[in-house]
Amino acid sequence: MTTLIIGERGEGKTTLAKYIARQRSRVSLMFEPKPDGSVSDCVKTYDEMEFYEAIEDAKESADQTIICFVPGDDVEEGFNEFCDVIESGDPRTRYLYGGITIIIDEAWSLMTPNKSHPKLENLLRLAPRDGCAQINVIVLAHKPVDINQRTHTFSEELFLFRLTEQSDLDRIRERWRPEVADAVETFPDGGHYVARYDKNSRIVEVWDDPSIWAPQTEVETKGER
Ligand SMILES: Nc1ncnc2c1ncn2[C@@H]1O[C@H](COP(=O)(O)OP(=O)(O)OP(=O)(O)O)[C@@H](O)[C@H]1O
Ligand SMILES: [Mg+2]
Repeated sequence: MTTLIIGERGEGKTTLAKYIARQRSRVSLMFEPKPDGSVSDCVKTYDEMEFYEAIEDAKESADQTIICFVPGDDVEEGFNEFCDVIESGDPRTRYLYGGITIIIDEAWSLMTPNKSHPKLENLLRLAPRDGCAQINVIVLAHKPVDINQRTHTFSEELFLFRLTEQSDLDRIRERWRPEVADAVETFPDGGHYVARYDKNSRIVEVWDDPSIWAPQTEVETKGER
């Protein structure tokens, strides 16, 4: 399943993505071009080998883990490396841990209005129907316009934080449902509230107790760039 999280800077997108990932999978893999404090509780890796080894370690362990891959300056090339590791190995054992969640933070860096990075496009096409296991993909962006139409179409679930620009609200009304945009319009500034819309059931829920998905504090790092 593909999930979209949209919200302005500092609303809590990365924090929410980690919470959802933990609800859905024991092991989650995150493409993180901006490894700030919001990923201080994740395992951070800076090259393909570190990333691969961290995944292997996670398979052996029973712990819940989010492993971040931090790309270098060339983000698109970094995404190739991230996908190469995910795609490596025997497909039947790749998702041994019984389902996986892949978080793509700062997704704007991998798309234009008409096109996504080809490997992201593949991932989104694969997500709903991989034969091996459940794959959840969570895509994060600041504005609805950062995400191209195909990605909006592929997504079955939207988490929307407070939006302040009328043009952004209008886009949500056009591409999703007017009710989702209406819900976030009244959110308080700095409240970290979020509206969830499920495309299949067409239900809008307001999540107004952010303490439930508030940040955790544990720190672990696999290396430094
Ligand atoms: N549910 C929450 N409850 C309390 N504080 C929160 C919550 N979610 C996020 N925060 C705080 O808000 C700040 C921003 O969170 P986060 O980095 O997740 O936002 P973001 O939308 O990903 O930001 P950016 O646009 O910079 O990537 C952090 O200091 C974080 O601790
Ligand atoms: Mg973030």
